[in-house]
Amino acid sequence: MLSAPTSPIGPAVEAGASMDELLLALRAAAETTRLRLLVLCARGELTVSELAQILGQSQPRVSRHLKLLCDAGLLDRFREGSWVFYRLSSGSAASALVRHLVTACGEADQTIALDLQRLAAIKRQRAEMAAAYFRENAARWHHIRSLYVDEREVEAALDQIIASAQPHDLLDIGTGTGRMLEILGPHAGHALGIDQSREMLAVARVNLERAGLANGSVRLGDMYQLPLSDASFDAIVIHQVLHYAERPADAIAEAARVLRPEGVLIVVDFAPHVLEFLRDEQAHRRLGFADGEVADWCRAAGLDPAPARHLPGDPLTVVIWTAYRRDPAADAQPRLRHTGRRRAAPTEEALLG
Ligand SMILES: C[S@@+](CC[C@H](N)C(=O)[O-])C[C@H]1O[C@@H](n2cnc3c(N)ncnc32)[C@H](O)[C@@H]1O
Repeated sequence: MLSAPTSPIGPAVEAGASMDELLLALRAAAETTRLRLLVLCARGELTVSELAQILGQSQPRVSRHLKLLCDAGLLDRFREGSWVFYRLSSGSAASALVRHLVTACGEADQTIALDLQRLAAIKRQRAEMAAAYFRENAARWHHIRSLYVDEREVEAALDQIIASAQPHDLLDIGTGTGRMLEILGPHAGHALGIDQSREMLAVARVNLERAGLANGSVRLGDMYQLPLSDASFDAIVIHQVLHYAERPADAIAEAARVLRPEGVLIVVDFAPHVLEFLRDEQAHRRLGFADGEVADWCRAAGLDPAPARHLPGDPLTVVIWTAYRRDPAADAQPRLRHTGRRRAAPTEEALLG
C-alpha cells in the first residue's frame, strides 16, 4: 500500500479521541432512537425519509436526532442533489467508538431485528427501481458493447495495472453503474465513484451492495469540478466517459489535481473512428482520441504519460492510456519506491506485463 494517505473527502483520521470527544459521543449515542439510527447507518447510506420509514417516526424528529449524531462526530452527512444521505462517520475522532457500539448491538434485540428487516425491505425496493432503470437503458449499452473488444480483456488489463499499483484510495470518474469499482475496488483500501447522474448512482449503489464491496461508495459530482481535495487519490480511472466530454483536456486536468504524487491516471476510451451514428444515437461528443492528444493533455496537467495499449475490436479499438503524476520530492532525489513502481512512467513491458 502507498503510505501516509490523507482522507480524500474529509479531515484526516485521528489516532485517538480526547476524553471530551468520547463523552460527547457517548452522550449522543445513549438514547434508544439514536442507537437504532447508528445501527442502521452502519449498514449503508440512508436518507432521512428512509430512516423515518424504518423507525416509524416523523421526519423532523428523526432529523433532530441525526443532527445531534453528526454534531458528535458519529455520523457523516452528505448531499446529493436534493437528497441528503447519512452514513457512519469514517474520519472523526469517535469513529472507532461508534463501530464498537454498533457491533455490540446484536440482532438478538427485537427492536433492532425489526429495524433490520425493514431496512432489508427498503434495499429490495431500491434494487427493483434501479433494475427497472437499467433495463430501459441496457439495450443501447448492449449495442455499443458489441462494437468493440470483449470487455473481459479490457477489465483484465485494468485489473493488472491497479493490482500492481495497490492504491490506498481509488477514484472512478463517471462511474456509471459502478462496474470499475466492483472489479478494481478489492485492490484498494477505499474506492469512490463519482457520476453526474443520480439514476446511474442508484444502480451503482445496488451493484456495490450486491458485490459486498464494503470499502466502496459513490457520490454525485461533475468531472470538471470534482468535490474532492487536491492530491487525495493514488489511482484514478476514467473508463468510457471521455467521449461524452465537451472539454476532455479539462477533465484530465481536474483528475490530475486530485492525484497524489506518483499516483496513476488510467483513461480508457476509443481510438479515432468514423462511426458517426454514435453522435446521434449515443450522444458521443468525440469519435475517439489519438494517442498524441491524450499524451499532450496529460503532460499539460503535470503527468508523465506511459505507452498506450491498444485492444483492437471490430470496428472500434479500445485504448488504455496511463500517466503518472510527477513527485517533486522524488525528482530532487531519485529513488525506487517499495512498490517497485518507477518514479517516471514505466516501460511498456513493465506496464503491460
Ligand atoms: C458510458 S458510461 C460509463 C460508465 C462506467 N465508467 C463504465 O465504464 O461502466 C458514462 C458515464 O459518464 C457519466 N458522465 C458523463 N459526463 C459526466 C460529467 N461531466 N461528470 C460526471 N460524470 C459524467 C455518465 O453519467 C455515465 O454514467
